[in-house]
Amino acid sequence: MLLQGALATLGLCTSVFAQDVSSYISSEGPIALTGVLNNIGPNGSKAPGADAGVVVASPSTSNPNYFYTWIRDSSLTFQVLIDRLVSGQDTSNQGLIDDFTVAYANIQQVTNPSGSVSSGGLGEPKFYVNETAFDGSWGRPQRDGPALRSTAFITYANYLISKNNQTYVQNTLWPAIKLDLDYVAANWNQTTFDLWEEIQSSSFFTTAVQHKALRLGSALASTLGEDHSTYDTQAGDVLCFLQSYWNPSPGYMTANTGGGRSGKDANTVLASIHTFDPAAACDSVTFQPCSDLALSNLKTYVDSFREIYTVNSGISASAAAAVGRYPEDVYQGGNPWYLALFAVAEQLYDALYVWDQQGSLSISDISLGFFKQFDSGAASGSYASSSAEYTNLTGAIKSFADGFIALNAKYTPSGGGLAEQFSRDDGTPTSAVDLTWSYASALTAFDRRAGSVPGSWGAKGLTTSCGQSKIGESTTTSVTFSVNKTTSLGQAIYLTGSVAALSSWSTSNAVLLSTLDYPVWSTTLNLPSSTAITYKYFVLENGQVTWESDPNNSITTAASGSQTLNDTWH
Ligand code: NOJ
Ligand code: NOJ
Repeated sequence: MLLQGALATLGLCTSVFAQDVSSYISSEGPIALTGVLNNIGPNGSKAPGADAGVVVASPSTSNPNYFYTWIRDSSLTFQVLIDRLVSGQDTSNQGLIDDFTVAYANIQQVTNPSGSVSSGGLGEPKFYVNETAFDGSWGRPQRDGPALRSTAFITYANYLISKNNQTYVQNTLWPAIKLDLDYVAANWNQTTFDLWEEIQSSSFFTTAVQHKALRLGSALASTLGEDHSTYDTQAGDVLCFLQSYWNPSPGYMTANTGGGRSGKDANTVLASIHTFDPAAACDSVTFQPCSDLALSNLKTYVDSFREIYTVNSGISASAAAAVGRYPEDVYQGGNPWYLALFAVAEQLYDALYVWDQQGSLSISDISLGFFKQFDSGAASGSYASSSAEYTNLTGAIKSFADGFIALNAKYTPSGGGLAEQFSRDDGTPTSAVDLTWSYASALTAFDRRAGSVPGSWGAKGLTTSCGQSKIGESTTTSVTFSVNKTTSLGQAIYLTGSVAALSSWSTSNAVLLSTLDYPVWSTTLNLPSSTAITYKYFVLENGQVTWESDPNNSITTAASGSQTLNDTWH
């Protein structure tokens, strides 16, 4: 262990290290699967009294008492079992999956403190394990639940349809799926408690999984001949709203619109892995795991824990470190969470998968800081898999990802049980024992590392046409941007800036200007009214970005109407 610790500290890529991770995975994988199954009724050994298909969050009954079923934990857990059924990796749990759909369709109908099935009750976060309502005070509603539940149900429904069982889907699963989708479509722009059940505002994870559920739901509705127009319209608006969480400096997704914290939060990493679409390349509009936005976010998030946990002392600034929910956390000691380390590894395995599939990786000015951790000389550009830089970077990133697994391995007690947290001071496991979600997160990280990825959900090629009807942006002003710039063949001028309609400083989704009045390049956009905005133009040539020199341009948009900007290139 000492030697491995030293190697990890130096961030060295060694086969000893990879072997160590592989041997942990071969022992922990089966333990994690058993850990999941033990916590599911009716036969799970640690779930006495739980109804068939009901997931107990943890067998812990005090400090904390987790002997309840949460819609989020349960849906994410069954998502793993369903994805493994779909991939053919494990077909042995289909009976349990059927039990799950029956139980959680029943739970939808249980009137609870959030309301009845038709008056908001679908947002209730947790129930007793016999499917009755929990009446105590709690952070409610939590609007990620219906999105995650419908996503799991839809994944199973699509599988059944592929096996010619459309009748069962139409008659039995679709009514429950539709309830959740209608709830999401009607309520996504209402405030919610975040996934940590603490802050009531809008929350990145919730918005991201809602968007995915609506896209999946629209496709299933269309297969079944059901109306999907509302899901499509709302999905477009949700995707616009999703862009607004991006905080360009220092480059991360702010987890919650409220709460008064830094906003650096595992929320965003979990969102990226749970909305991973292997067909969507490195698209930043859906914050794909290999997108420049999600990679920049990952670095910002991980770095926020380097100085605050004693267990991270002595670890180099570019090596894997223990991470938790968010740096300000104090719950149960505010420690590292196993599922957070697994999530970081998983995001990176997802990224490595896509780079490998597409045969290249790209570095933008936004993701440069992330890549510089592995090569201080890294530069913006696109690198083919045949290049030395690609080999160098992907090798280092694989080791970095494995480092998070290795840390969890280091802090997994003999026997392999995974609690919720391990002590920030000395790594001792703490808080809820045998947390179902910890085990489920181990399984997905291990599956992705082995190259097993979930199905596509339709993120490929999505674009936004925002500008109207975003939360907090009730009025817009039409702004014409124009800049006089003589260019040569192969060069194009783009615009990017500080609001979503200006692609939130992304260079990969920036706005291409028109040459209609060349040498004046121009475009007209709807921007939020009476808003201070900064922006810049850049030249794109062969994938290379050349920015205007500093400083950024700035304007405050008019209260209404339209305005025209005649900029001089600088
Ligand atoms: C219990 C919740 O499960 C947990 O996420 C939260 O941090 C604490 N309550 C404190 O609000
Ligand atoms: C507390 C976590 O914050 C929350 O996300 C989870 O649903 C519950 N524990 C149950 O595991």
